[in-house]
Amino acid sequence: MSDPAGIKFPVYRPNLSGKELRNVTEAVRSGWVSSTGKFVRQFEEDFSRYLGGGRSVCTSNGTTALHLAFKALRIGKGDRVIVPNLTFASPANAAIYEGAEPVLADVHPGNWGLDPERLEGLIDERTKAIVVVHLYGNPCDLRPILKVARAHDLYVIEDCAEALGAEYHGKKVGLAGDISCFSFYGNKIITTGEGGMVVTENERWEDRVRVLRDHGMRPSKRYWHDEVGYNYRMTNLQAALGVAQLERVQGFVEKKRRMAAWYARGLRHPRILQTHPDPEWGKSVFWLYSIQCAFEARGKNRREELAAGLSSQGIETRPFFYPLNEMPPYAALKADKDLSVSQRLSQGGVSLPSGVDLTRDDVRKVSEAVVAGLGE
Ligand SMILES: Cc1ncc(COP(=O)(O)O)c(C=O)c1O
Repeated sequence: MSDPAGIKFPVYRPNLSGKELRNVTEAVRSGWVSSTGKFVRQFEEDFSRYLGGGRSVCTSNGTTALHLAFKALRIGKGDRVIVPNLTFASPANAAIYEGAEPVLADVHPGNWGLDPERLEGLIDERTKAIVVVHLYGNPCDLRPILKVARAHDLYVIEDCAEALGAEYHGKKVGLAGDISCFSFYGNKIITTGEGGMVVTENERWEDRVRVLRDHGMRPSKRYWHDEVGYNYRMTNLQAALGVAQLERVQGFVEKKRRMAAWYARGLRHPRILQTHPDPEWGKSVFWLYSIQCAFEARGKNRREELAAGLSSQGIETRPFFYPLNEMPPYAALKADKDLSVSQRLSQGGVSLPSGVDLTRDDVRKVSEAVVAGLGE
């Protein structure tokens, strides 16, 4: 099947061929189409069961989940929060919504996540939390990060938006820190269309997230507001999708790991410097299968040429995220003196088609096209 735009191999296409339609139809027939209905609680309970612990609260998207995490921890004006310089911007944005100041840390070249060695130098008396982003599905090295956090009495917020099902020392990511957040956008490991989840072991924080998700209303006194909240609720329709997707998540993760092995075998070229990492302390879920290439040649970055060539063959790609410090809203933030790793990874990174419906033959075709596109 090809997309109308002539894209044969999109970067992502969700697989919705299980009970998704049946569940959504059931939700529609029940009349419970807003945020009350059986699927909402079921999705939260199934999610905690899949992770192996935690109290899960679903939200309207991954960014609202992060916003509520900052609210739950009461991180706000005057506080500093360490955020990796190489990430989708949501965790920095969510900190800024609350008046907190992101401090940009460089990342590790091996796994693309926060480099524990860089943290000490960035901590001061205003620092309240470290946001760990398991980038492109790769688990960060959590133990040394947690050690630094505990030594300085800092919270750890895990942004697992790209890493549902990834593991660190045999445990799913999302339970090691104080609070974690997930996204269920259409290109994530599972999707609810738009959607997010906050997970924490702490009952007080869970309660606060539930109240703030629902306008700040006191659960026991309808229409009574103890503070200003938000409407960040997930609908029963979205949760109906989520329940069906979650039944299949294990299969998705296994398929993504098989696809990564196919890609790694096919992507051999002197200018491919690194295939998608799978850190030795855990298991990546290879969210968007990504590689690092030597694109710089004769003062020119040839990534766009590669992308255009692949696009003409119906193969969609994405450049890596831009380093936060290079973009206007974040350029003046306090940052690591040396951000060269995130800058280099950003310039060399490209993400390839990664949906779970890709066959071995599809991955072979894409890999061959990438290798051919990189030239001599
Ligand atoms: C690392 C990271 N955090 C947060 C988000 C935000 O999630 P959402 O798009 O559901 O708001 C995303 C992606 O979309 C992401 O990649």
